[in-house]
Amino acid sequence: MRDAFQLDGKTALVTGGSRGLGLVFARGLGLAGARVVINGRNEEQLSAAVKTLQESGIDAAGYSFDVTDPESVAAAWPRMTAEVGDIEILVNNAGIQHRAPLEEFPFDDWQRILRTNLTSPFVVAKQAVRSMIPRRRGKIINICSMQSELGRRTIAPYAASKGGLKMLTRAMAVEWAQHNIQVNGVGPGYFLTEMTQPLADNPEFDAWLKGRTPAGRWGDPEELLGALALLASPASDFINGQVIYVDGGLSAAI
Ligand SMILES: NC(=O)c1ccc[n+]([C@@H]2O[C@H](COP(=O)([O-])OP(=O)(O)OC[C@H]3O[C@@H](n4cnc5c(N)ncnc54)[C@H](OP(=O)(O)O)[C@@H]3O)[C@@H](O)[C@H]2O)c1
Repeated sequence: MRDAFQLDGKTALVTGGSRGLGLVFARGLGLAGARVVINGRNEEQLSAAVKTLQESGIDAAGYSFDVTDPESVAAAWPRMTAEVGDIEILVNNAGIQHRAPLEEFPFDDWQRILRTNLTSPFVVAKQAVRSMIPRRRGKIINICSMQSELGRRTIAPYAASKGGLKMLTRAMAVEWAQHNIQVNGVGPGYFLTEMTQPLADNPEFDAWLKGRTPAGRWGDPEELLGALALLASPASDFINGQVIYVDGGLSAAI
């Protein structure tokens, strides 16, 4: 059983791994034995995150590129893989949020959200499978959301992007299963990070969330690592196109 979750010798890339859930994912994969590569646009934050991982004894590196820009991804890829090896586990985690009533939603913000949350997993996965296909091995984990299933006022583009990402996960899985590549998703409920800080600071939202979630609380980011470990490891070699919701029961309740 322990061997089924073994990540020793594997190289994992976590996009948007410089803070928040991505940094927790990188730490988890690193402590499970993988060499981890994290990414983000802010180089200072990225270097600081790499340093904290290395201080925990993790084999970590950071590469700054914009996942929404195919040219930026293509330019970073050869240098990155020459230094750390081919990416065998890809966690498409980089994501953004912007809240506004839909009838007032700025078009540029709509585009930015769709590009980051939905288009970039395609852009980065397209690079990663170039080496996964000939090796006949690979794991891709797309970080979805409650909004892959449920709508909520003021975040329509986010919901559209995360609903799309659930279907992209299935479509990638169907297309690449023949190459022994498994593509699945993790759908976090509500976890405290920079993205959700405005919600946590709002006592009304905080009370609503605790009442609405059967577990009665926010999630601790470390609680996402069980699903991640399953989907990153040989334990999931016949699991394709699934999204595991880690949400304290929120999506099961009305
Ligand atoms: N927190 C939650 O409760 C929750 C719930 C459900 C789903 N999620 C999902 O989980 C993922 C992580 O969320 P989080 O809460 O950890 O967010 P966060 O704290 O805001 O971190 C986002 C990360 O993405 C990076 N990023 C954003 N745009 C990028 C770009 N164009 N290119 C490269 N990196 C980029 C950021 O670095 P730079 O800004 O330096 O680029 C940062 O490292 C997102 O996909 C989010 O939708 C979160």
